[in-house]
Amino acid sequence: MKTFILTIAGGGSTYTPGIVKSLLMRKDQFKLEELRMYDIDAERQNKVAVIVKEVVKEMDPSLKLVLTTDPEEAFKDADFVFAQMRVGKYKMRELDEKIPLKYDVVGQETCGPGGMAYGLRTIFPMIELIDFVEKYAKKTCWIVNYSNPASIVAEAIRRLRPNSRIMNICDMPVGVMRNMAAILGVAREELTVDYFGLNHFGWFTKVYVNGEDKLPVLREHARVHGLLTEDMSKVDVQHSDPSWIKTYKNIKYLVDMFPEYIPNPYMQYYLLSDHIVANTNKERTRANEVMEGREKRLFDAVDQYLATGEMNKDAFYVGVHGLFIVDVAISLAFDLRKRFLVIVENKGAIKNLPDDAMVEIPAYITSNGPEPVRVGEIPTFYKGLIEQQLAAEKLLVDAALENSYEKALMAFTMNKTVKSAFQAKQILDDLIEANKEYWPELR
Ligand code: NAD
Ligand code: G6P
Ligand code: MN
Repeated sequence: MKTFILTIAGGGSTYTPGIVKSLLMRKDQFKLEELRMYDIDAERQNKVAVIVKEVVKEMDPSLKLVLTTDPEEAFKDADFVFAQMRVGKYKMRELDEKIPLKYDVVGQETCGPGGMAYGLRTIFPMIELIDFVEKYAKKTCWIVNYSNPASIVAEAIRRLRPNSRIMNICDMPVGVMRNMAAILGVAREELTVDYFGLNHFGWFTKVYVNGEDKLPVLREHARVHGLLTEDMSKVDVQHSDPSWIKTYKNIKYLVDMFPEYIPNPYMQYYLLSDHIVANTNKERTRANEVMEGREKRLFDAVDQYLATGEMNKDAFYVGVHGLFIVDVAISLAFDLRKRFLVIVENKGAIKNLPDDAMVEIPAYITSNGPEPVRVGEIPTFYKGLIEQQLAAEKLLVDAALENSYEKALMAFTMNKTVKSAFQAKQILDDLIEANKEYWPELR
């Protein structure tokens, strides 16, 4: 039986225990010969590893687990790398969210100025990671990448490392499909969807169950309830946090106004930005909720385990996030050609968008990578919105590669969440100050 060396880059992530559990749930199909955790923050990674070791002990005790901050040790002969780095950690996420809000602009991890700030921090560390993998890992190694902001990261990789074996993925569409399945009373695996857009900027156009399009049923539900089901805590722990409940509920406004398709929840930040800002606590954003929630639960469980030897199994969970990345890896490993939504270069798939756009669309995942489906032409409303967002993302990558303040200002001005060039400049200047340690210089 084939076995694999797999490295989690960003081993100190709050998601690592859930991903490891998901991997080990599949050990009969996808047998690991060695699991490695790599991070630049040894202290954080060691803490998370307390839990990971327990998961391994329980589920696959003979598996070798390696913790390292050394790229050679991390990636030597690896078959798979799962990337999930958060450059600047939650401390910088909090600033990404709070600085735009000072100007009554959406403050969000991956959307608007906050997402662009995160993008400028992440582009070069991601390229460095790809180079480590190319240097040390097997030539056939695949990187499956969750690191955000995925659209901007994917565009930078397309330009700087066009031949790298990397699959950029997002768990939001599978998260939505989990809710859709609960609404329809079927299993998520029974859904086949059509979808187009950019990452965190797209629409479901068909939702098939047994060949029948259930979008009309979902539309009627979503008009009233958004994409909420009766009891979200039964469906998903993380997405039952108050901010996620609000997000799934907000879909109702969008579906009511534009019933044609079901939007990705992240569309709320662009199309309902005034409503979002008015309903955000500027002192306590999602970063605070995560630090006081997911991160605290995990680290409390570590402390408790070290003190008592007892593991709180509710401190982490697999969720669609953990399931999805392993599904993608298995499809890559065994050429299963399973259909997933992934981020790929357009190359004509969406006929009336540029070939070089990084788009999120369905693709069949083979051992040589994704084979995207043809989407065809998309209607003017969506095309216009996507083109504006795409231009902002491309300008932002230009800014990073050319060290251009002007391009960064264009990117910020172009983003739909920002009202004017004056406002863009104020936010950009504040973010430059806050990101001195991380951003490429902008002149
Ligand atoms: P986290 O802060 O808990 O973990 C991130 C880890 O990355 C930290 O331990 C940090 O030290 C490490 N790191 C930072 N820079 C690094 C580098 N250059 N090399 C190696 N490690 C580095 O964050 P989290 O909330 O668990 O999220 C992890 C990542 O996954 C984030 O990028 C987040 O945006 C992303 N994410 C993406 C999706 C998606 O749909 N694409 C879903 C969930 C999370
Ligand atoms: C979804 C998105 C991710 C994002 C995450 C944030 O899963 O697809 O891209 O990182 O939400 O979740 P959080 O709980 O950290 O706010
Ligand atoms: Mn995502």
